[in-house]
Amino acid sequence: MSVVLAKGAEAMLFLEQWYGIRVVRKHRIPKSYRVESLDKRLRHERTIREARTINVAKRAGVPTPIIYSVNLETATIIMEYIEANRLMEHLETLSSSKQQKVFKQIGKSVALLHHTHICHGDLTTSNMLLHTSGKVYFIDFGLATTTHSIEDYGTDIHLLRRALNSTHHTSWRECFNAFKDGYQNEYGRGASRIFRQVEAIESRGRYITERIR
Ligand SMILES: Nc1ncnc2c1ncn2[C@@H]1O[C@H](COP(=O)(O)OP(=O)(O)O)[C@@H](O)[C@H]1O
Ligand SMILES: [Mg+2]
Repeated sequence: MSVVLAKGAEAMLFLEQWYGIRVVRKHRIPKSYRVESLDKRLRHERTIREARTINVAKRAGVPTPIIYSVNLETATIIMEYIEANRLMEHLETLSSSKQQKVFKQIGKSVALLHHTHICHGDLTTSNMLLHTSGKVYFIDFGLATTTHSIEDYGTDIHLLRRALNSTHHTSWRECFNAFKDGYQNEYGRGASRIFRQVEAIESRGRYITERIR
């Protein structure tokens, strides 16, 4: 049994049976528009980065799928199937207090990532899965980086805020405030510097937009 779960820009994802358990196989497909050697290197790098970071994040206390197997030759990861809804589609169906609970938890997880010096690189609600237990799982770590720079942490948060603002406009502000709360509680001292950085990134963006107009 193998069914296509998702087909992204970079990868095909299949839901499969693997030694008697349900798993997700994420296969990074070759891109014919890239020079072959570069394409192979990129798929190789992102596969190893994703598998490694998912494990490091899990150890830091962030819910992520278990990695069962990695094949660098075929750029494939076999991981735990998380039976959950993508937050992207599910967020609007939640009550406002539930939404805030979820985002507080997301804030805590992102703070744990940043404390471990991981920048996710693509923090959107389509890379978060909301389990019926209320736990939010983080996925899609192919663009993650290891960094000590608060500019990078700020960029991660800025991207999440932008994604929230554009896809969930009715509730984004409350969600972001709850996120900030959860982040600050977990990160402790130093969090305010990171949020000042988010503001700085934001105002640079506004400045550029105004200059283009
Ligand atoms: N471990 C998993 N369990 C359940 N669903 C998953 C899992 N990994 C990915 N998915 C589903 O597949 C989609 C695409 O996966 P993702 O890793 O984000 O790849 P892409 O790089 O194409 O965005 C996700 O939005 C989610 O719906
Ligand atoms: Mg994704």
